Amino acid sequence: MPGEVTEPVAAVTVRAPGKVNLALAVGRLRADGYHEVVSVLHAVSLSDEVVAEPGPGVSVSVAGEGADAVPTGRDNLAARAAYALARFLRREPAVHLTLRKAIPVAGGMAGGSADAAAALLACSVLWDARLSREHLLDLAAGLGSDVPFGVLGGTAVATGRGERLAPALSRGTFHWVLALADGGLSTPGVYGQLDRLRGGSDVPAPRVPPALMAALRSGDAAALGRALGNDLQDAALALRPALRLTLEAGADAGALAGVVAGSGPTCAFLARDERHATDVAARLSAAGVCRTLRRAYGPVSGARVVASGP
Ligand code: C5P
Repeated sequence: MPGEVTEPVAAVTVRAPGKVNLALAVGRLRADGYHEVVSVLHAVSLSDEVVAEPGPGVSVSVAGEGADAVPTGRDNLAARAAYALARFLRREPAVHLTLRKAIPVAGGMAGGSADAAAALLACSVLWDARLSREHLLDLAAGLGSDVPFGVLGGTAVATGRGERLAPALSRGTFHWVLALADGGLSTPGVYGQLDRLRGGSDVPAPRVPPALMAALRSGDAAALGRALGNDLQDAALALRPALRLTLEAGADAGALAGVVAGSGPTCAFLARDERHATDVAARLSAAGVCRTLRRAYGPVSGARVVASGP
């Protein structure tokens, strides 16, 4: 309406999910230092929230799971998202970001990427940018391989270095038990360990596992369990041998299957249904093989605004 005055938004809260790689096939090391991958990504209900409020410059504060281990300077991925968006919009970056963490830090579940995806969306609403999804995904890809998936969520096949996404068909809801470890693992460190384990031998081109896609289409948890796979798992186990005990304990606890999440050290265990997940979590807790346990389900949506107001 002409003359209409829209009140400036004072705070925007965005929630973005963590992910489990249902499959992660790692191909050759490229000239740019990244590995060619084919991955099936599944967004789960363990999510972070980012609150964006007007502020002088860009500042970050962090609360919750692993908050002490998260950098709050310019290298924080959420701060980098705010700078990147401000540059794109040719405006002053002026925002305070509060990160409320539940996704483990350096845990292999793309928590930093979720925060970056959430910050991108929160700042774009705070600054009334009205960005198309394509622009948001482009900016996300410039921030990190997993950030576009934090925007998109759901279930997707990722190619390239992991940033090129195609949504995948998935029926129903899958239930997970996540075993969180003490301390994190560095993603480049785990990729580097895989290169050492491979010792320069020829690596086949990574490909989408057909049995996994069929299990997702039919919503068959047992079949999905049989098809889970992660080429980074052996590298993560080499760097953190104690994870073997966690995976064994998950099998003993009756999980359909267990897999290291991304580059680890979080382990993800698939359950038949919600009740089974509760049962597996109780047994795993008694085994004492991880710092703490979380139940989650997926797929869930990507970054979305959960509160916004003057
Ligand atoms: O893209 P992102 O910043 O999350 O990647 C972090 C690091 O993980 C990269 O610098 C690289 O060492 C490694 N990586 C890789 N191949 C990929 C994705 C990440 O080697 N496909």
